[in-house]
Amino acid sequence: MKGCILYFSATGNTEYVARAIKDEFANNNIPCDMYEVSKNSGFEDKYDFYVFGAPIYAEMFPPFYTEWVKKHITKGNGRKCIVFSTQANTIACGPSTFAKELNKIGFEVVIEDNVLMPNNYYLVMFRKFTEQQVNDTLKKSKDLARTLVDRFIKHENQLINAKAREIWAKPVFKLFLLWSRKWAKKSLVADMGKCTRCGLCQKQCPVNNIKVNKDSITFFENCVSCQRCVHKCPANAFLYKDKVIDQYKLPKEVF
Ligand SMILES: Cc1cc2nc3c(=O)[nH]c(=O)nc-3n(C[C@H](O)[C@H](O)[C@H](O)COP(=O)(O)O)c2cc1C
Repeated sequence: MKGCILYFSATGNTEYVARAIKDEFANNNIPCDMYEVSKNSGFEDKYDFYVFGAPIYAEMFPPFYTEWVKKHITKGNGRKCIVFSTQANTIACGPSTFAKELNKIGFEVVIEDNVLMPNNYYLVMFRKFTEQQVNDTLKKSKDLARTLVDRFIKHENQLINAKAREIWAKPVFKLFLLWSRKWAKKSLVADMGKCTRCGLCQKQCPVNNIKVNKDSITFFENCVSCQRCVHKCPANAFLYKDKVIDQYKLPKEVF
């Protein structure tokens, strides 16, 4: 039996949890590959089970993630899976909403869960976690990853009932998607004195929303607000509302 963790992670949180899940499967002698969907190359649907994971944006998974999954895996064929989100609050609809779609194409979703992780969205919303909060959260998320894998192996179902939450979350998410398309274009500029033209932002943008030119950086209107460009820039060259950005980074020792 071999599994695959199919995930998206803009700033490292979901990747951290994905690794913890992979390690826990390995501790149980179950091999599990990891595949980050924005790399978008060479994926083959050849696995016996899947773990789906993504960050929450306004309660839901980013559509480019869910669409990528549905494009590359068209039939569940009764295969079991785990669906998890990472987010800064304790609860969100994303996993249960996506689980319904997975069940429709023939997957058997055994586990759905929300894994609390530090907030990477403090430029716009919610507060930045303190160092102590980050450390406590990382420890708890690792423990939770262990529990999820144990339950999955023992075939113990764990599903979230988010029906009531979805009633307001779905329209909020639609508005968020409309607003976010222009987020980078409206809020960010690059300090071209700092920018080294390394092209990382352009290369790593999951929705091809960035073009690095000789004298400027252009943002198109397809942004998902994922924050990867601003927090991963090696020169911290982006300005948010004309201010230098306090970049989000997980502590070095966790990777
Ligand atoms: C555009 C955007 C919207 C977000 N919306 C929510 C939200 O509705 N609820 C929440 O708890 N966290 C929210 N967050 C926080 C992230 O979900 C959280 O920090 C996540 O773990 C980041 O994962 P990553 O590092 O793998 O990209 C949001 C973050 C971004 C960038």
